[in-house]
Amino acid sequence: MKDSLIPENQNKENIIELASRYVCPGRVETFKMLGSVPVMGRREGNYFWDIDGRKLFDVHINGGTYNLGHRNLEIIDAITEALGYYDIGNHHFVSVARTNLAEKIIKLTPGNMHYTIFTPGGAEAVDITIRTARKFTGRRKIVAFKEAYHGHGGLGLGAGGYADMAHFFLSDHPEVEFVLIPFNDIEAMRNALKNGDVAAVLSEMIPATSGFVMPSEGYFSEVKKLCGEHGSLFIADEVQTGLGRTGKLWACQGYNVEPDMLVIGKGLSGGIYPIAAAILTEEVGAWLKEEGWGYSSTFGGSELGCVVALKVFEILERPGVLENVNAMSEFVAKGLADIQESHPFFTEVRQNGLVIGLRFDNPHGGMMMAACCYESGLWAFPAGFERSVLQFKLNILVDQKACEEALLLLEKAIELCEDKFLKGNS
Ligand SMILES: Cc1ncc(COP(=O)(O)O)c(C=O)c1O
Repeated sequence: MKDSLIPENQNKENIIELASRYVCPGRVETFKMLGSVPVMGRREGNYFWDIDGRKLFDVHINGGTYNLGHRNLEIIDAITEALGYYDIGNHHFVSVARTNLAEKIIKLTPGNMHYTIFTPGGAEAVDITIRTARKFTGRRKIVAFKEAYHGHGGLGLGAGGYADMAHFFLSDHPEVEFVLIPFNDIEAMRNALKNGDVAAVLSEMIPATSGFVMPSEGYFSEVKKLCGEHGSLFIADEVQTGLGRTGKLWACQGYNVEPDMLVIGKGLSGGIYPIAAAILTEEVGAWLKEEGWGYSSTFGGSELGCVVALKVFEILERPGVLENVNAMSEFVAKGLADIQESHPFFTEVRQNGLVIGLRFDNPHGGMMMAACCYESGLWAFPAGFERSVLQFKLNILVDQKACEEALLLLEKAIELCEDKFLKGNS
């Protein structure tokens, strides 16, 4: 590889300066404010290394992108083999890899799923589901949650906590198009749907950017029932909760709800080649017969991405993989409870499988903890809309030894945080 592409051979300060000049000035400033600007170097399994040499156990896993760990060797073998034959392919054509993957997805998704539309990223897949809901119902209004995040691109930006970002780019939509209500509030949902003018309810299964707020018992069944009564569709965004992260292949299975559309992304890429998808029932996807080019994207369903995603499903279907998620989540739950006992600063665990948010007794506790985690050797990130929460997301192939290590590093970070920020405050 060319020297200029080998991260470890670069001067970290220089790269940060250049990134600030040419790529992401605002972001660099924010990282500086948080105390460190990580630059990703080597990566492998549970870890990546900052180019200054710091080894970090990754419990952010980029929202599930590294659901199978960093540089999973089986995924690398699959893409290496595919490169002997395939390229991106031509998105206008019928494709063997795309068709195989779609067939696999439909076999593995709940309910009456039938069509898969492939996109380069999650936001574009969300965008398709919104358009589909509007086309199918003849209505414009989308009900979504203030706590939600559905990506920065496309229509989904207006449908969640970053709606002000849509406004920033003069790309927001009139209020009639997106109605944002609080999550877990069934009365607000009843009220939003009652006029029969809502195309769809768009929902993450567990709002990640708000720190994994767990849905209350029976909430989604009730929401789906209300959707049925008022002719609205239900879209499940499983970009962060799908692909085994909750111990089931799809989180919606655990909440007993069959969506009309399902959005997947992140981990579908195996952490190696971008691919996402919107999955639709035959009924709502009827426009695909009417308009063959109703959606089109050069990189949507790239054949290399399809080969990778097929390997991801092959791994997920293996005996023992989902069982491992359940066993490790139980182990981690016990470990977290033990840590909590001796650290009153650590107030709450929100957990479904390996989807985990940790709440701390300070409005900025998640931010403070992220800084201390970096020092202890853990890469963790606070929840964007709820800064008291730290996201703690292990990949699904971790073993008990790795969980023990992550818990140890977490406890060390809590101790650092108590020393650094809390001494003298009590
Ligand atoms: C729940 C959810 N939906 C959609 C998206 C958007 O996916 P992408 O960043 O691939 O556009 C994200 C990204 O973080 C997400 O967390």
